[in-house]
This record gives sequence, C-alpha cells and structure tokens, in this order.
Amino acid sequence: MEKRTIVTMPGDGIGKPVLDECIRVLDAVGFKANYVNGDIGWEFWCKEGNPLPERTIKLLEEHKIGLFGAITSKPKDKAAAELAPELQGKNIQYYSPIVAMRQHFDLDLCMRPCKTFPSNPLNFIRRGAGTSIEEPVVDVMIFRQNTEGLYGGVEWTNPGDLVYDALMTHPKFRENFAWCPRPELAVSTRIFTKKYTTRIVRAAFEYAKNRGYSKITVCEKPNVIRETSGMMLKIAQEMSKADYPNIWVEDVNIDAMMMWLTKNPENYNVIVAGNMFGDIVSDGFAGLVGGLGFACSANIGPEVAVFEPTHGSAPKYADYPVSIVNPIAMILSAVMMLDHIGESEMAARIKKAVSEVVAEGKVKAYDMLKMKGTPDVVNQGAVSTKAMADAVIAKL
Ligand code: NAI
Ligand code: MG
Repeated sequence: MEKRTIVTMPGDGIGKPVLDECIRVLDAVGFKANYVNGDIGWEFWCKEGNPLPERTIKLLEEHKIGLFGAITSKPKDKAAAELAPELQGKNIQYYSPIVAMRQHFDLDLCMRPCKTFPSNPLNFIRRGAGTSIEEPVVDVMIFRQNTEGLYGGVEWTNPGDLVYDALMTHPKFRENFAWCPRPELAVSTRIFTKKYTTRIVRAAFEYAKNRGYSKITVCEKPNVIRETSGMMLKIAQEMSKADYPNIWVEDVNIDAMMMWLTKNPENYNVIVAGNMFGDIVSDGFAGLVGGLGFACSANIGPEVAVFEPTHGSAPKYADYPVSIVNPIAMILSAVMMLDHIGESEMAARIKKAVSEVVAEGKVKAYDMLKMKGTPDVVNQGAVSTKAMADAVIAKL
C-alpha cells in the first residue's frame, strides 16, 4: 500500500483528544500514513492574527487530504480583545477558518451521514399503535452545498450607494424596506450558482444510484425562496429526467422536513439541500442517531477533501484532566476519509468495530449514558475518550 500523508488539524478544545484517539484507531486498522500537523484555530488567531495560517493551506495543497478536529470561534469584540498586544489596533478581522478552508479549496460537496447504530441508547424512539414503542432505523445521507447560499459571506450592514441603489431597483425592496434608515439595514444574500447546485445535486443522484435508492429528497423552500431553492429543485427534476429516470425527486420544504424527521425518518435516504438548510437538516437527523458524539462529515472538493466531526471544540470539557468526550464522531469522519481514498475495506472494519462496541453496550461515553459532562463521569460508569477508542481498537 502506498503510504499516504494526511494533514491533521486538531484545532482547539476537544479537537485534539478526539483526533489523537482517531489516529490510534487508524493505526490499529493497519492504515499506513504519515501525519503532518496543520495549525488552525483560535490559538493562531490570537498569536498571529490568522486562524488559518498560509502554511496550513500549503500543506493541504500538497497532500490533499485533511482530518480536522474542531475550532473555537468567538464574537467580533472578543476576537479583537484576545489578539496579541502587538497585533491590536491594526484592523485585523477575524474570519471562520472552516468557512475559509471550504471556500479556498472549493470544498463544495458536504456529506453528512446519519445512520442508526443498533442498541445505541441515544437512538430516537416514538410511540406506535396502542402502548407500543417503535425505534425506526434511520439511514440517510445529507448532501449539503458547502460554499454558497446564506453562508457565502456576501452581506452588508448599512450598505453603500451601489448596493443600496441596486436593491431599490427591486419592487419588493422598494415596497417593503425603503422606509428603513440605511444604517439600520442589514442584508445577507443567498446566492446559488448553476454550476455548484448541479454538482451537489449530481452527487446526491450518484449516491442514490450506487445504492439502489429510487428517490432523492430536495429539502429547500421553492414555494417562497423561488429563485435559489427553485433553481435547485428544477435542476434536480431535469437531471432525473435526463440522467436518472429510475430516481424520482421528492420536494419537501425545510420546515416540514423538521417535522417529518421526528415522525417518519426512515422514509428518507438521500437528501440534498443548500448550505444553511443542509446544515439544519443534518443536525436534525444527527439528533435521531446519537447527536454530536456520533455526527461525522466530509467536505469534498475537486482536489482537496477534509473530514471532520460536526461538533465544535466544547471548551467546557477541553481542560479536563481526563478527556470524557465521545471520539466516535471523529472516528466515523476518518471512516469517510478511508472510503474517499479507496480504503473501503478498512473503513468497513472500523465501522463494524464501532457498531459492535455500541451494540454490546458495555462501554459508553457520558453522552450515551445521558449524564451531565462533569469531570467525574468516569467514576460513575462512563468511559473516557481514550477508553472508548480502546474498545473500538479491541474489536479490530
Ligand atoms: P460544541 O459542539 O462544541 O458543544 C456543544 C455541546 O455538545 C457540548 O457542550 C457537549 O455537551 C456536546 N458535545 C460536543 N461534542 C461532543 C462529543 N464529541 N462527545 C460528547 N458530547 C459532545 O458546540 P458549542 O458549545 O456551541 O460551541 C463551542 C465552540 O465550538 C464555539 O467556539 C463554536 O464557535 C465552535 N464550533 C466549532 C465547530 C467546528 O469546529 N466545526 C462547529 C460548532 C461549533
Ligand atoms: Mg452545524
């Protein structure tokens, strides 16, 4: 096997312990790689005024594959206050290094699988007929456009003349917003392009085709957000006709989806959405299959791909003498990485090992025991981050 180089970016807080444990699991499955460390996150914002240093971008350019833990970000004023004294007052602006990484490398395809592990105590249950309780099996892949839409960053407070005059050419703006004094006006745009909308929709169709699904669900709001949501739905419908005649397009509004997923989540297997709605619906489904301790994701571009748990840096838990957070989300992100680079057999083995640990039910992190995450949970039956990884490794 060719030895890969993987750029590991632990970031802040719990990013480091979960990534460390994840790499032990990768070693145990026999994945041969060199790991090079990429600096990212709050520490580098404070010290260097840049949360995504150029050297990290270079590493990703060179090696193409990244494993990322989590970062901390804070509001504008806090960001400014924590900058190193020599960098203060230079008008350096904080930006999200994750969003920047996605945009820089065009990581436009975000995939977030949400799949039930049998016997996970965090699995969603619902009332059935009479007094019965049902535990539906959730198995959905969410395709989220990762670089455009409401998170595209094209926004203004107190917009300048050109922008304001352009807005005034729109009859709805004139009718409904012209009364507002300009300094009191904030505008965030939702831009979709045909190229990138087509790419995310095609990725969803290909996935459905490879797994024999007969439907993809577009989760937008085309009846209200006609131009952008409407574009995605139309592209999907045309693509179905032209290239995937055996896969039909279901149109479910994002708000209705948040209701349906608590009623019949087993009815959905492939969902495609824009940036923000994809973010929302994937968190919704993640909540049905274990929440943040289980939610993994892939950010895939034409050249570079970065794999990360969807949770953040959980600063509350960052300084515990023994880390207690669940490393499964990070481990499953590495599984997605292995699949992406063609190491599907190793990916399947790790996934099976995780399934077995969860199914056996002997080893549980505090979240699986529904405990408050206090430092002493390990004395109350919960395992540490390391012990959870050990259990997975033992199954390998
Ligand atoms: P968070 O995801 O860091 O934590 C929320 C809560 O979820 C935690 O307090 C903990 O109870 C639980 N949790 C998270 N990961 C867990 C795990 N692996 N195992 C068990 N329980 C887990 O979100 P929060 O508190 O909103 O944000 C904290 C910081 O992280 C902020 O600075 C935020 O900006 C950043 N953030 C970064 C993300 C990223 O790096 N991708 C994503 C979300 C937030
Ligand atoms: Mg999110």
